Amino acid sequence: MKVLGADIGFGYTKATDGKQYQVFKSIVGEANEAQFGESLLPGVPQFPRHIAIGNQSYFVGELAEQQSRGRGFTLDQNQFLAQYAKPLALTALAPFVASGDPVRLVTGLPISFFRRYKDPLTTLLQQRHTVTVVKPGTGEREEKVINVEKVRVIPQPFGSMFNLMLNDIGKPASQRFITEKIGIIDIGFRTADYTISDKTRYSERGSQSSDSGIAVAYTAIANVLQEKSGVNVELYRLYEGVSRGTIKIKGKRYDLTGLVQQAFQQLATRIAQEVNRLWSDDWDLDAIVITGGGGAALSAYLAPLLEGEVLPMPADQDARLNNVHGYWKYGLHLWGA
Ligand SMILES: Nc1ncnc2c1ncn2[C@@H]1O[C@H](COP(=O)(O)OP(=O)(O)OP(=O)(O)O)[C@@H](O)[C@H]1O
Ligand SMILES: [Mg+2]
Repeated sequence: MKVLGADIGFGYTKATDGKQYQVFKSIVGEANEAQFGESLLPGVPQFPRHIAIGNQSYFVGELAEQQSRGRGFTLDQNQFLAQYAKPLALTALAPFVASGDPVRLVTGLPISFFRRYKDPLTTLLQQRHTVTVVKPGTGEREEKVINVEKVRVIPQPFGSMFNLMLNDIGKPASQRFITEKIGIIDIGFRTADYTISDKTRYSERGSQSSDSGIAVAYTAIANVLQEKSGVNVELYRLYEGVSRGTIKIKGKRYDLTGLVQQAFQQLATRIAQEVNRLWSDDWDLDAIVITGGGGAALSAYLAPLLEGEVLPMPADQDARLNNVHGYWKYGLHLWGA
């Protein structure tokens, strides 16, 4: 029996078996079987991005973004579950699974969908899935049985909490997360999720999802760039420029440092207002954790605006992986290895 974690975000899908990770954009598209496209992509991805489930064949992630004609992305959770969750999850898990071997999976849902969708998501994933994965580069097809014998769904930000609380054999490494009341702010691409773990118990009152994802700041940056350059830069193409502080459009270089600072400061202010209002009755919080890929980007702006002690997340890890790493540790905690 193997324990896996999968975090299907609106921006990125992340998965791990504790040893290896993979991250890809949460985009699903039709596979163009006849195309020679896969081998034309610059750099062959390490893991398959082409999967067939039943008689449906999909491209996912960057491959879908670049090669699929019909491709989709949604913020509607109903549609997300019905159409995208399965191909994203199975593509994420496939490389870590030996065909037929039982696996147990911890995954998460955003705060606002947790109660309503945790059972449907469990039903969707807790099955023997027969898939065909198409290897990148060679196009070789392999049939695989992904035998998910157990699924546990938790509120997404709890992944980061378990990541801080548990060690790599799933045992408590830090007492404070078990005995204290911790606020968690998980900032992703599209959404920000706020939640409270009170002695590891989920607090409904202190939990909420909002639209204050990093995309809000990216939109502000893209708007200014459009005014200056005439080009409408897609949000998913801004990450590199934003982290480098400069972007080249049609041969001209634009300095982004001031713009980024202003956009991040504004978004941090908005998030701090939401959080401070939501947690106004929870003045007994012991500490606050800022997590998620967007959290790493914003924490320097956000931490000073929060009313409480802010704990740092591990700086040596891609913050997008904090939740999924915690899911995996929680799986070990529940089921052993
Ligand atoms: N190497 C990277 N590539 C892309 N984005 C990165 C990278 N490192 C950090 N980021 C940041 O991480 C953000 C995405 O974070 P994350 O993966 O936590 O979102 P998500 O969980 O998919 O979204 P949501 O929580 O809205 O569902 C990006 O918007 C970017 O700001
Ligand atoms: Mg997320």
